[in-house]
Amino acid sequence: MAEAVKMQVKLASGEQDTLESRRAAPNPVIVTGGASTSLKHESARMHVSGEATYLDDIPEPRGLVHVVPGLSTKAHARILSLDLDAVRAVPGVICVLTHKDIPGHNQVSPVGKNDEPLLAEDMVFYYGQPIFIVVAEDRHQARKAARLAKITYEELPAILTIAQAREAGSALVWRPLEMKRGDVDTGLMNAPRRLSGRITIGGQEHFYLEGQAALAQPGEEGEMRVWSSTQHPTETQHMVAHVLDRPSNLVTVEIRRMGGGFGGKETQANIPACLAAVAANATGRAAKMRLDRDDDMIMTGKRHDFVVEYDVGFDDAGHILAVDMVLAARCGWSADLSGPVIDRALFHADNAYFYPDVRFRSEPLKTNTQSNTAYRGFGGPQGIVAAERVIEEIAFATGLDPLDVRLRNTYGTGTRDLTPYHMTVEDSIASEIMTQLAENCDYRTRREALREANRHSPYIRRGIALTPVKFGISFTATHYNQAGALVHVYTDGSVQVNHGGTEMGQGLHTKMVQIAMREFGLTEDRVRITATTTGKVPNTSATAASSGADLNGMAVLDAISKIKHRLISFAADHWQVSEQDIQFEPEGVQVGETLVSFPDLVKAAYFARVSLSSNGFYKTPKISWNAETGRGRPFYYFAYGAACAEVAIDLLTGETRIERVDILHDAGQSLNPAIDIGQIEGGFIQGAGWLTMEELVWDKAGKLSTHAPSTYKIPACSDRPHIFNVSLLEAAPNREATIFRSKAVGEPPFVHGVAVLQAISDALASLKNYKICPQLDTPATPECILRTAERLRALSEV
Ligand code: MTE
Ligand code: MOS
Repeated sequence: MAEAVKMQVKLASGEQDTLESRRAAPNPVIVTGGASTSLKHESARMHVSGEATYLDDIPEPRGLVHVVPGLSTKAHARILSLDLDAVRAVPGVICVLTHKDIPGHNQVSPVGKNDEPLLAEDMVFYYGQPIFIVVAEDRHQARKAARLAKITYEELPAILTIAQAREAGSALVWRPLEMKRGDVDTGLMNAPRRLSGRITIGGQEHFYLEGQAALAQPGEEGEMRVWSSTQHPTETQHMVAHVLDRPSNLVTVEIRRMGGGFGGKETQANIPACLAAVAANATGRAAKMRLDRDDDMIMTGKRHDFVVEYDVGFDDAGHILAVDMVLAARCGWSADLSGPVIDRALFHADNAYFYPDVRFRSEPLKTNTQSNTAYRGFGGPQGIVAAERVIEEIAFATGLDPLDVRLRNTYGTGTRDLTPYHMTVEDSIASEIMTQLAENCDYRTRREALREANRHSPYIRRGIALTPVKFGISFTATHYNQAGALVHVYTDGSVQVNHGGTEMGQGLHTKMVQIAMREFGLTEDRVRITATTTGKVPNTSATAASSGADLNGMAVLDAISKIKHRLISFAADHWQVSEQDIQFEPEGVQVGETLVSFPDLVKAAYFARVSLSSNGFYKTPKISWNAETGRGRPFYYFAYGAACAEVAIDLLTGETRIERVDILHDAGQSLNPAIDIGQIEGGFIQGAGWLTMEELVWDKAGKLSTHAPSTYKIPACSDRPHIFNVSLLEAAPNREATIFRSKAVGEPPFVHGVAVLQAISDALASLKNYKICPQLDTPATPECILRTAERLRALSEV
């Protein structure tokens, strides 16, 4: 399964061979040789044995108190009175705190909007908003007590859905973005063919295995030490400082690992951290907040659901001529990261395709629901789902295979290469990847066979689809594209690596260890990665946008290079050889003719008073973005891939089975093929779950009804494809000088789930002899599939 395939690139004569040019690119970054290796995850053994320490496993400090939130039971209301006497009266309750007990600022907006009070003041804006916290000796007592609050509300009209928000002319949580190139109105008017439509795209609960959790311990003179399951320790540090009204130098935030984040702990981990710190401050005791799963799901934001309206002009050969899209999203009650998330949906509403005339507009709508937030792909997948629906529409309208429509519209190289945000695509390989994958998995033959089989199968219908992904890598907020590291070499030759990124299962720490192993010529047991802490590497960015390894890897390399330079210059002097004759090899350090062990070299350097520790820094070159003009180069490069999915749907029950999936993915020169393939497999399953089975339902009062695994269905092991072939694009180093020419791999494979959605749609299209686009919304749950089948059957015969 993990076997990589050779990429044979066949291109029409005259076109530039972009993969060849990538292979030929100079590689100044690689210092020592050796291919990337599949070192196992640094915590793999502890993950399976249960020894890995997550937040709730940290030995509890003496006198620990437990913190549980009291949540709003109205979606939009004025708080008329708040009677907490019964809560306070419960044995074991130490105190009950409201916004009035916050010593500093009752404000945790991560984007400076001042629209997110930590605890509600006189208003509540969604069902589940924290109003107070119970601080108790015992977590169960606190949970029971929290339910005893007597709150009277004056209910106000609540806006829950995108449709309601549009109808009410609801406020936007962020400036709308417009991207345009060419003249879309003229383009649409002059196009030989034209169609329009809309797609509804559902949201998604993160369902990290470890819920939101934090532990705060007060120290001397206002110090606060916080352990937080956070993707963004620096922001958590700043928020705690802000809420306590203290300088950041009194607050230290530490995180060894998360049991999954998926974007859900990029900003929203700040809330439990701040609430635990407020409780610790009030009691002078260590305080822990570990959210119950239901509270977690009711309180925290999710993937944004979207309604996308599209208008497209094309010709009979399936060439796209003009695209006009409006992307409306449910953002929830506060801005959080909705602005950049919706922007990223626009950045990906072209997926891998060139649109000659184009206009994208966003509507980031404010609603009385959880504040939707980052989630793997950060809006990108929603944009891509819309782009692929447009492809599908054109395919059904022209009678072409959707794969041919895709191949005819991918970005070119040197021509047809400008994105709607005026960035030139320099490395378009989507066509090559799709063509290669189609050959590898026999797409065309299987498609014919499935269509034939469907003719004789009244209830089980099969479908197949092959979809690409092109995903932009970098934070679109340019200043986030920086990272720091701190590397120590001890006198016994062992190495400690610290960096600003966080580990959430994605294998970032393993990759960082590999960089140190490779650069110093050491084995795994000589390199120790430590917990991420703001005390060691300050002012870091969130581990997000898939750029954890890109950014921190280069910072780690920078730190190591500084130490190596010192060691080399010392050794050259000490052993009287030229600096060029010193190499760090797995056998030891080659100093001219002499082989010196790394510990011996380090010890000698120490006695000569050479510093064996260094920080490192990195900032991504070339990038810029101006949201006002809608122009720039927001991405350092793109990651590519393609997936082919075959499904069987049951027309009696609406159930789907994923029969076979083949994925070919571009991780550049992979830092760790095993980990990258794991990311691709996991990303695909999570993407397929989003599009086919995970459904969020709110009742009329705005309460999330699906707030536990009993009502919210995520993919299980048995839902994985029966045949699942994942390959990395081989011999395809990044053309940009990323860490060892690798590519980011965390989010792009999530998009491969789109192939499943389109395969279901293909199966449904059999009902109308493949003449009508089924216009399948997401999630394509059994109910949705049955509804769509019914709608199709009712359409007049074609
Ligand atoms: N993989 C695991 N196992 N757990 C996670 O929480 N988060 C994803 C992805 N893969 C996640 C994961 C998300 S949303 C991002 S942005 C990246 O990992 C972040 O890590 P990276 O930048 O190191 O790839
Ligand atoms: Mo990932 S959504 O960028 O944390």
